[in-house]
Amino acid sequence: MFALNLNKTPMPIFYGKAALIDYLKSIKTPNSTLGFVPTMGALHQGHLSLMQQSLAENDNTVVSIFVNPTQFNNPEDLLKYPRTLDADIEKINNLNSDIILYAPTVDDIYEGKVLSLTFNFDGLENQMEGKFRPGHFDGVGTIVKRLFEIVMPTNAYFGEKDFQQLQIVKKMVTKNNLKVNVIGCAIYREPNGLAMSSRNERLTDQERSNAALIFTTLNLAKEKFKTNSATSVTKWVEKSFDTSTPFELEYFQIADETTLRPCLRKSNIKKYRAFIAITINNIRLIDTISLN
Ligand code: PAF
Repeated sequence: MFALNLNKTPMPIFYGKAALIDYLKSIKTPNSTLGFVPTMGALHQGHLSLMQQSLAENDNTVVSIFVNPTQFNNPEDLLKYPRTLDADIEKINNLNSDIILYAPTVDDIYEGKVLSLTFNFDGLENQMEGKFRPGHFDGVGTIVKRLFEIVMPTNAYFGEKDFQQLQIVKKMVTKNNLKVNVIGCAIYREPNGLAMSSRNERLTDQERSNAALIFTTLNLAKEKFKTNSATSVTKWVEKSFDTSTPFELEYFQIADETTLRPCLRKSNIKKYRAFIAITINNIRLIDTISLN
């Protein structure tokens, strides 16, 4: 739980980049640091924990709320993505009214051309989410680069649930020589282990409770990986998500944490992670766990 801010001054909210950039210039000093938490809204405790980390580590914090159309490969997913701006503003304001909110329009970001740039993320984009969501990471790269150019943060905070996204953003920063530290933050989970996600809002109570199976399976896979190969753990997971469950398993992959390539033969000097994506009733959920 987070403490309520009872000593409120109005939170600075910007719907356009020009006014935001002017405001940020006015508060910047030679040594001040600016933290940035990009989001697509429908805020949950996971987002609030990123904001708390940014508040603790920086002089000022900007949060953006923008449902980015170019990263949705599925038009229905974009249409159904929860949009809860008023409730989000209240949550941020209750957390800390010093947070600066940027909630741009599509036009403010894309200036009439809603198109992705094309990126080369050295193959990170071709694994897992990249296979199932064509164009997704070009959309993510486009918006994150654009937001970094507008906000010019010192530190930017991303949740590890989207671990592939985190690695891709780090790669984009390195390749483009951007001056921002990208900080990965631990996954925030519901009491039953389900990773917090804005998409969880679309689950019924029953589906939410059933979805505990995702994290339970990841933990068991971690245990099994100590003594079994990646292939045999993968087969076991595929069996666990057979037709007797309400879920459809899109992929389960054990991969090298740096390259995100599948683990074919275990090596003691590599760090591995398990990645999973499932759908339930057309709602797509992903999760990940570090294996060693
Ligand atoms: O993780 C998300 O919410 C989005 O992909 C991000 C980073 C805000 C870009 O739209």
